[in-house]
Amino acid sequence: MATKSQFLPPILPIPLCLFIAFLPEAAPSWPLPSEIATGGAWVLLHQSIGISVMHMQVLRNNKVMMFDRTDFGTSNISLPDGKCRFDVTLSPVDCTAHSVLYDLASNTIRPLVLQTNTWCSSGSLDADGTLIQTGGHDEGERVVRSFAPCDDNSCDWVELYYTSLMNRRWYATNQILPDGRIIIVGGRSVFTYEFYPKSSSSSQFDNQTLNFLWETRDPDEENNLYPFLHLLPDGNLFIFANNRSILFDYSANQVIKEYPVMPGGDRRNYPCTGSSVLLPLRLTECNAVGIPCGTPRAEVMICGGAPPGAFAKANNQSIYVEASRTCGRMTVSDPNPQWVMEQMPGPRLMSDMILLPTGDIILINGAARGSAGWNNARDPVYNPFLYLPDEEDPSRRFIILPPSTTARLYHSTAALSPDGRILVGGSNPHPTYNFTAGPYLTELSLEAFDPGYLNPDYAHLRPSILTVESSIDGTVKYQEMFSVSLMLPFPDPYEPVAVVLIAPSFSTHSFGMNQRMVVLGVERQPRFGLKMNVIGPKDVNVAPPGYYMLFIVHHGIPSPAVWVKVR
Ligand SMILES: *[C@@H]1O[C@H](CO)[C@@H](O)[C@H](O)[C@H]1NC(C)=O
Ligand SMILES: *[C@@H]1O[C@H](CO)[C@@H](O)[C@H](O)[C@H]1NC(C)=O
Ligand SMILES: *[C@@H]1O[C@H](CO)[C@@H](O)[C@H](O)[C@H]1NC(C)=O
Ligand SMILES: *[C@@H]1O[C@H](CO)[C@@H](O)[C@H](O)[C@H]1NC(C)=O
Ligand SMILES: *[C@@H]1O[C@H](CO)[C@@H](O)[C@H](O)[C@H]1NC(C)=O
Repeated sequence: MATKSQFLPPILPIPLCLFIAFLPEAAPSWPLPSEIATGGAWVLLHQSIGISVMHMQVLRNNKVMMFDRTDFGTSNISLPDGKCRFDVTLSPVDCTAHSVLYDLASNTIRPLVLQTNTWCSSGSLDADGTLIQTGGHDEGERVVRSFAPCDDNSCDWVELYYTSLMNRRWYATNQILPDGRIIIVGGRSVFTYEFYPKSSSSSQFDNQTLNFLWETRDPDEENNLYPFLHLLPDGNLFIFANNRSILFDYSANQVIKEYPVMPGGDRRNYPCTGSSVLLPLRLTECNAVGIPCGTPRAEVMICGGAPPGAFAKANNQSIYVEASRTCGRMTVSDPNPQWVMEQMPGPRLMSDMILLPTGDIILINGAARGSAGWNNARDPVYNPFLYLPDEEDPSRRFIILPPSTTARLYHSTAALSPDGRILVGGSNPHPTYNFTAGPYLTELSLEAFDPGYLNPDYAHLRPSILTVESSIDGTVKYQEMFSVSLMLPFPDPYEPVAVVLIAPSFSTHSFGMNQRMVVLGVERQPRFGLKMNVIGPKDVNVAPPGYYMLFIVHHGIPSPAVWVKVR
């Protein structure tokens, strides 16, 4: 029975499903959570995609936007049809691409035309799933660019005029807000935030000062660029920079509270680059329509970084100090929150933290010594770390995963893809795309890390989503019930099925902007049928409007995602 079910067509008549589901002899032995957790495999997707992936964003049609910068000379991939960039002052004229669109299904890329300089820029999807991408360097520093996904090959970047932003935004961070606007915070030597789109009566409120950005800047080294932003379920922003954090009301330009300084002395933001995630927001007590559910608890986790001085030592003395070994967790929604510090299995900086559909976190990429910035790091950390946030025993929360063979240091990226893999690219671009300069080479390859749950031995256990039915097709509405038809090859009635939403993040400089996971409330578990009733997210603060990947998870094994629009 078990073998046969692998070859069944994806959409089953219900009685056949039930028949399979409840045959006692069909029950497999489920892998232990520890067996799943310790697994994982690296897959080389492309030896070269022609550019180094400095920025990455998964889009709602299973294509992935990847781009670099434009002022680094010609890349290793040409623009099609004899196209060139319009900057004719360049000599020779640049007819190469600095951005590609990767198609997950076909594992192919399409070069795109990027004109203005996106070096160390930022971005966010808007509520319609269009990438709004902001800032960069030189002529690109105040540019807003957009990319609307399309199903043919017709779409490309659209770049708005040179002064679409009120300040230069180089090393800024973006976050989509509950009302669908995007906030853009900080940037090098810029101590303000602004919104996109602008209000019709462009006013002072479009460009506000945030002293916290000034206060957290270390002389010479900064250590507060690419601040970590998380939209909290009370509608305010959590902002972390250097070693401090605030709860911020961006509408009133008011700091509501300052959290305790993160202990330990390490710095966490560029160039002492660590990473940060908002742990899953759990709406599991929201299990019926019409009964108000509470605001979920919000907990932030920040890992890695470097001690102060790491950048200067690397940069002008070639001394590469050991990176931070610590993570801090804080329940930011508590009335009197405190950091709880934990030790990682080893030092690391410039690692991406990725939320998995299981609610666990993977730390991937990075180095054990030095700092961010050109050639400032040494000792690549090839092993991802898995972190189990719900494991009671802190000494058992970290698991070291199988290593890659590619150094992924400065300007590497990672993002969760809808099939449950982690896409990994970029690292160490050298000027003029020099492919011989060291100490680490310009890296054009694209890889995937398949977490343990994708082990082919568990393929027959993998759940899948057949349909999502709601009052408007493909849309999940706030607090409205919708249903998910699923296929559980071996339902275990003692193990609940989790339904989770994950927002695709804009990944750059080791931080996933907008990364967010919401565990939805379930009115009915699929015990006596293969349909579950699920309650849409509580409100726009818990899940700002936009496209999310919807996964179901059973026994630690997630389904592939389907895309839903939340509004
Ligand atoms: C550049 O592109 C060529 C042709 O696609 C490829 O063979 C080569 O490996 C690429 N170079 C690097 C450094 O990836
Ligand atoms: C935005 O605010 C900053 C800091 O006050 C200022 O330097 C800049 O000129 C402002 N931009 C506009 C367009 O008003
Ligand atoms: C936090 O950072 C500030 C500014 O760099 C520094 O003066 C202070 O000592 C740091 N505190 C801790 C606990 O690391
Ligand atoms: C060392 O590096 C820092 C940061 O880049 C710089 O501000 C400082 O002037 C440098 N010191 C020397 C002696 O070069
Ligand atoms: C690439 O870098 C190496 C090492 O720094 C240097 O010797 C070489 O001249 C560079 N090549 C080009 C084309 O700039």
